Amino acid sequence: MNLPKATFVTQIYFMSKSLHIESLCVKAGEYPEHSHILPIYPTSTYTFDDAEQGAAILSNQQKGYVYSRFENPTSDAVAEKIAALEGFGLNMPLQAYLTASGMGAVTVMMMSLLKQGQKVLTHYSLYGGTEEWLMRFLPKLNVEAVVINFDDLNKVEEILKHDNSIGLIHLETPANPTLQCVDIKAVCALAKKYNVKVSVDNTFATPILQQPFAMGADLVFHSVTKYLNGHGTTIGGVVIGNDIEFMNSVFRKTYRLMGANSNPFDAWLVMNGLKTLSLRMERHCENAKKVAGFLITQNAISKVNYLGLTEHPNHQLAKQQMKNFGGMISFDLKGGIDAGRKFINALQLCVKAVSLGTVDTLVSHPASMTHVNIPAEERMKYGITDGLIRVSVGLEHADDIINDFEMALSKI
Ligand SMILES: Cc1ncc(COP(=O)(O)O)c(C=O)c1O
Repeated sequence: MNLPKATFVTQIYFMSKSLHIESLCVKAGEYPEHSHILPIYPTSTYTFDDAEQGAAILSNQQKGYVYSRFENPTSDAVAEKIAALEGFGLNMPLQAYLTASGMGAVTVMMMSLLKQGQKVLTHYSLYGGTEEWLMRFLPKLNVEAVVINFDDLNKVEEILKHDNSIGLIHLETPANPTLQCVDIKAVCALAKKYNVKVSVDNTFATPILQQPFAMGADLVFHSVTKYLNGHGTTIGGVVIGNDIEFMNSVFRKTYRLMGANSNPFDAWLVMNGLKTLSLRMERHCENAKKVAGFLITQNAISKVNYLGLTEHPNHQLAKQQMKNFGGMISFDLKGGIDAGRKFINALQLCVKAVSLGTVDTLVSHPASMTHVNIPAEERMKYGITDGLIRVSVGLEHADDIINDFEMALSKI
C-alpha cells in the first residue's frame, strides 16, 4: 500500500465550498485509498526506494515522509481535518500542525514567531499555563508580556502606536473562568493597521462556534485535549496558520526542533472525536442553556456566568462573533469555600475533575482544587472567588445534570 503523499497545504478547502461543516467533520482529512477508517502509522521512520529518492525528499524536491517527528500520515490527516474546519466557508488555504498538547501548540507557535526584545500584547484571564509561559518563561528569552484589559480598544491602539516592539497580540476568547470575550474583529483590524500578527486560542468555542480566521486572525490554536477530542482520551494541541509560506518554513522548522509533534495513536483518537464535533457542540450548547436557566433561579447562587444570559457583559459580543454560546458555565455560591466543597462532594452523576469539553459533565471548585495553594487576593484578581464553581456541561440528558445539581445544592 502506498503512503499518502505528505501534503503540506490542505487540499480540502477547494472542496469545502460545496460541503456543510457537518460533512467536513466526518469526511475531511486525506488518507490512503481503500482504507475506510484512518490507519494508525506507528512508525518512527519511512523507507526510501533508493538514495536518489531519499535525497529528493530530504531536499524538499519531492514530497514524502522521512521521520515521524517531522510528519506522520495519521497526524497529518487530523491536522488537515482541523484546518478544513477552521477554514470552513472561507476562501483561504490553511496549514495545521498537530502538537503533543495545547501547551505544545502555544509554545511552538510563540517560539517560531517571536524574536528577542519583542513583546506579546495580551489580556487578563488567560489559561494558567499560557500565562505562566508568558510571565515566567518568555522573559528568560528576553520576550516580555504586556497585559491589559482589551475592553478598552483605545488603550490597545495607544500601545500599538507607541511600542513597535509588539510582535504578537495573543487572545483567548471566551476565557476562563468568567467567559470573558475579546472583540476579535476589532482587535485584528487594529493589528493590521500596525502590522502585528494576532493569534487566538479557540479551545472554548471550537471552529463550530467561532472562526477567528474569518475575523482577521493570523494564527489559531487549540488544546485538542478538550472539545476537539471530546472524549477525554488524549492530550493534544494544534496550530493553524494562514501564512502557508511561514507555516511550512519557520514554523515547521521550530516544530521539528522542539519535538512538538503529536503521536499516531493520540491523533487517531482525535480523528474519531472530530467526526462528531458539530453534533456534540450542538448538544453541549443546548444543555448548557438549560442548566444555566436552572442555576439562575437558585437562591444559593449569587451569580451565573454564561454567555447566553443577556446580563453577561459579553453577551452581545458573543452573539456577534460566535454561532452559539458554548458549553461552559461558572457560578458563584453565596456560601463561599465551604459551600463550594460541599456542593462538589455531593455530586453523584457529574464528575469532579479539571479539564473540559468531554461528553460527560465535569465540575471543579478552583478555590479548593486547582487554586488551593494560591492566596485568595491573588486568585480573586482572576475572578476565582471562594464559591466559584466551573462546569463543562456534558451530553447527558439536561434533566439528569439539573437533578444532580439540585440535589448537591440541597446539601450545602
Ligand atoms: C484555553 C486553554 N488553552 C490551552 C490549554 C493547554 O492545553 P493542554 O492541557 O492540552 O496542554 C488549556 C488547558 O486546559 C486551556 O483550557
